[in-house]
Amino acid sequence: MHPMLNIAVRAARSAGEIINRSAENVGRLQINYKSKNDYATEVDRMAEQEIIRIIKAAFPEHAILAEESGEHEGNDYVWIIDPLDGTTNFLHGFPQFAVSIALKLKDRLEIGVIYDPLRDELFTAERGGGAMMNSRKIRVTAQANMTGALLGTGFPFKNLQHIDAYLGMFKALSIDTAGIRRAGAAALDLAYVAAGRLDGFWEIGLQPWDMAAGVLLIKEAGGVATDFTFGDTYLDSGNLIAGNPKMHQLIYKAIEPHVTDNLKKKTR
Ligand code: IPD
Ligand code: CA
Ligand code: CA
Repeated sequence: MHPMLNIAVRAARSAGEIINRSAENVGRLQINYKSKNDYATEVDRMAEQEIIRIIKAAFPEHAILAEESGEHEGNDYVWIIDPLDGTTNFLHGFPQFAVSIALKLKDRLEIGVIYDPLRDELFTAERGGGAMMNSRKIRVTAQANMTGALLGTGFPFKNLQHIDAYLGMFKALSIDTAGIRRAGAAALDLAYVAAGRLDGFWEIGLQPWDMAAGVLLIKEAGGVATDFTFGDTYLDSGNLIAGNPKMHQLIYKAIEPHVTDNLKKKTR
């Protein structure tokens, strides 16, 4: 295993232990209101500190972009961290949340790790090395049409300006598919696309830490990820379509009529 992947796995598992331990005391946690529908708990912060501690000990010169503490300066390597993706689920005891850690070198994603601490499912990818779940190779599905397809999504609940565009997309896609799931942890949704549990995914307004690891997992599992203009600016625009190559194309076609000029922008 790549030494940097090794560190990412160690950090994700260690954060997962903190999350699992805290899950029993959820009612007693101190909750911070960040902005509309956006919360962080002391668990988010403790898990993030633990991840950063492990990464910094191994690679003190690397830069970090982490959800709770922001940017930490360093060299061209940037670790992109979501210590707890699915905080709202976590707070409600809804068992769908994960740790997400990616490593980017300049514009290229090198490593992606997503860890579901409740199910002890570890999704890993390194550029050029394929994608794995608990050390077994994973691949995107071979689903080739909307009929029978299962898609994942997220609602634009923080930024309501896109709600009409989103509902147009949702309607177009829900008519033909077998189902659409809004499970509440984007990183885990993306890991599920890579593992063939979902055929595709789309969401408006994601943050880099929600998707960096998941995008690499999907690409290494034979899938495709783009922004809403078929380009690769998703980390900047926050808008993402992902799936196996065929489903990616079909989702793109279905949502295209609803993509506003704002959603075509390369930055958020
Ligand atoms: C959120 C989850 C959710 C997605 C939101 C994210 P958080 O992350 O991934 O599924 O719809 O866009 O912000 O705040 O729980 O880390
Ligand atoms: Ca997140
Ligand atoms: Ca988070």
